[in-house]
Amino acid sequence: MSPEPARPSSLPATGVFVTFDAAAGGPAPYFRRAFDTSSRPRKATLRVTALGIVEPYLNGVRVGDQVLAPGWTSYRHRLTVSSYDVTELVTAGSNVVGAIVGEGWAVGRLGYEGKNNHYADRPALFLELELDHGDHTDVIATGPEFTAATGAVLACSLYDGETWDARLEPRGWCEPGFDATGWQPVREFDWDTGVLVEPMAPPIRRIEELAPVSVTPRPGGRYVVDFGRILTGWTRLTVEGPAGTTVTLRHAELLRDGELDPTTLRTALATDRYTLRGGGPETWEPRFTFHGFRFVEVDGWPGEFTAGALVAVVVHSDMSRTGWLETSDERVNRLHANVVWSMRGNFVGVPTDCPQRDERLGWTGDLHAFAPVATFLYDVRGVLGSWLADLSVEQAEQGTVPFVVPDVLSTPSPPTALWGDAAVGVPWTMFQEYGEEEILRRAYPSMAAYVRDIAGRLDERGLWSTGFQYGDWLDPDAPEDRPSEGKTDRHLVAQAYFSRATAQLARTAEILGRSADVTEFTALAHRVRAAFRREYLTPAGRVVNETATAYSLVIAFDLLEPDQLAVAGKRLAEISARNGFRISTGFAGTPHLLPALTRAGHVEEAYLTLMQTELPSFLYPVTMGATTIWERWDAIRPDGTLHPSGMTSLNHYAYGAVADWLHRVVGGLEAVEPGYRRVRIAPIPGGGLTHATLTHDTVHGRIDISWRIAEDLMAVDVALPAGVEATVVLPADPGGRVLAVGAGRHHWEYRMPVATREVVHTMDTPLRVLAEDTRIWRALTEVFAEHFPGIPIDGKAPEAAAISLNILLEYVPQASEGLRADLEAALAPESAG
Ligand code: BGC
Repeated sequence: MSPEPARPSSLPATGVFVTFDAAAGGPAPYFRRAFDTSSRPRKATLRVTALGIVEPYLNGVRVGDQVLAPGWTSYRHRLTVSSYDVTELVTAGSNVVGAIVGEGWAVGRLGYEGKNNHYADRPALFLELELDHGDHTDVIATGPEFTAATGAVLACSLYDGETWDARLEPRGWCEPGFDATGWQPVREFDWDTGVLVEPMAPPIRRIEELAPVSVTPRPGGRYVVDFGRILTGWTRLTVEGPAGTTVTLRHAELLRDGELDPTTLRTALATDRYTLRGGGPETWEPRFTFHGFRFVEVDGWPGEFTAGALVAVVVHSDMSRTGWLETSDERVNRLHANVVWSMRGNFVGVPTDCPQRDERLGWTGDLHAFAPVATFLYDVRGVLGSWLADLSVEQAEQGTVPFVVPDVLSTPSPPTALWGDAAVGVPWTMFQEYGEEEILRRAYPSMAAYVRDIAGRLDERGLWSTGFQYGDWLDPDAPEDRPSEGKTDRHLVAQAYFSRATAQLARTAEILGRSADVTEFTALAHRVRAAFRREYLTPAGRVVNETATAYSLVIAFDLLEPDQLAVAGKRLAEISARNGFRISTGFAGTPHLLPALTRAGHVEEAYLTLMQTELPSFLYPVTMGATTIWERWDAIRPDGTLHPSGMTSLNHYAYGAVADWLHRVVGGLEAVEPGYRRVRIAPIPGGGLTHATLTHDTVHGRIDISWRIAEDLMAVDVALPAGVEATVVLPADPGGRVLAVGAGRHHWEYRMPVATREVVHTMDTPLRVLAEDTRIWRALTEVFAEHFPGIPIDGKAPEAAAISLNILLEYVPQASEGLRADLEAALAPESAG
């Protein structure tokens, strides 16, 4: 069943799309039109878009600071038009308006299937220049009066890079007085102007520039430039040399033996070429491509290359930053910074999986996993509002939510959990952040259509038990070449996610006052949850499929009754401990692992998991120098080799979902009401952290939280904006105070009670952790010496991270009766010391 298509309100258009045949598959077309105006207009507005990437000019001036416009949307339904006030650029008399149009998403190679021309076979331009003279308005619009030629842009591809020959640039081509002899007539390009819309998303811009951190000469007169971190964008060069010299810039995420290793780019060539005009310094940067890179190889440089000649330009959607977190642990800070940079690198118009290889698609599951972090870090109402509008029109057309939005895959997408239910989970997450019912109202037809579609696929027991599923995608234990074959039953994952989606939709129907739907979806939610419980849960609270993902999902998605939580939580803690607190979850489970441990009262295990540095773990990539989040934990293995699967993006935000827990538990901020009018502030210190500072710009203003431990003193600071009410649960407070506070600055300082300063250890605590407590370890060593004379037990050995006293007991079933009692006594606070 399809939703009613969301109706984008289209802009009135007087122009038509124009194209230039000579530009098909080759150089980028330049379009121009000269016009006269007897007087300067009161106001001049330029509206422009393209099938391709457009760079508009008026009287020789590059208009605006948007790059990669119009970005990528579901062009057949929504093509956005940029508007600029160009009043200052129009003169009385002769004027010229024009644009260069590169291939971009519409024309060039796009998607891992290697196809071109997803939307058009050549670039096409649409432009309207409105001259408001007060008593009348003239419109200069694309049509037969335009002419076209080719110029310096010999090739441009998002994946492969740009080739620019400055000698071929028709200098002054967009200024009055230019001799346009030889420019050819344009041809009308058949494209429905009814799809033209105002942009919902902020434009893509150059956001930041980075200088090289090192330049290393290589054989053959080449240089390797390191920008110190992985970023998305391009480089700008300033060069002087003889005409006809070509400088080649190759980009990569990685070096191997001092040379670029392009493996993570797959077939994307990421190579820009600039041929000099000669006769003085020249500055150039590409406009019709972007790269995901840290390293650049410079080849063919005339003379000696110096670091000042190249700068990296960081490019992404120009969103406002809204969330920050800092802790006392530099590794955790790096992890968080890596999440931020992976978001920045992948919000280039569309939220993508990765920005570097021959892919860069709006994978729905990746965003669904990452959405709570995205909404905390940046104001994503624009980018995700636009993306959801595309999702809903494409879903309406296809009947299911495509794997990628906009959809350029050659085959239809069967519905699969985490990916398809992005239609429900993403607007729901945005509503939690911004509290705007309009977000839900707009998404509602798409949310309901997704849920009704899956409801129709349930078997007679209410289970989603057939069809394709990505499952717990990229479970580290899945076969290397079959990432969807993780150890957690894929239909269990699907049922759990569908249970959450139905609950979110039932709530949405309630919020929007759709009473008939409330009845329908509430009943469905109960049926799906009950079916899950019948099929996959034991009455005590164990899950038939005992994996960290299965337990994380049942705990996080409310699939348990209260009396089952303790059992499930204990099993999750045990599984985590057995794994040495390494990660055993994929895309579906990882976002929920630390929240589930915490919710079940195992915050210590959550911290042990966070702080683990051995592979696979959150911090392992940090120890390997990562500056972004990787697609898989072992993308680069300890010996420096790459995972052999060909899926080793070093800039993939999905696993960055862990930052949500950092914000809620380490930073301690949670919205109790959508939009943060009422919040719960309850940081839980742990993991050896001694302070954390969180700042969040909510729709009601800025919230600041900070806690700091010095010796046995705890200091907590909270600042709230007007209109926001908080319940503050003071961490490690001897009185266990829970306070209600309002706007303003609040400060508390107190001595922590001895009991909470000492970590409470149990029979499930790993030996590695016990060994760090000298008093307890001394007591335990005595017990070991008595019961296992002559056998050394090393609490620092790698396997000690996975072995607890309970597990030790399992290994020695013949152990004496008294062993358990002695071990328990050694753990008791009074016996130690
Ligand atoms: C993408 C993922 C995506 C997955 C699903 C990959 O190629 O990079 O992040 O979700 O495919 O199949």
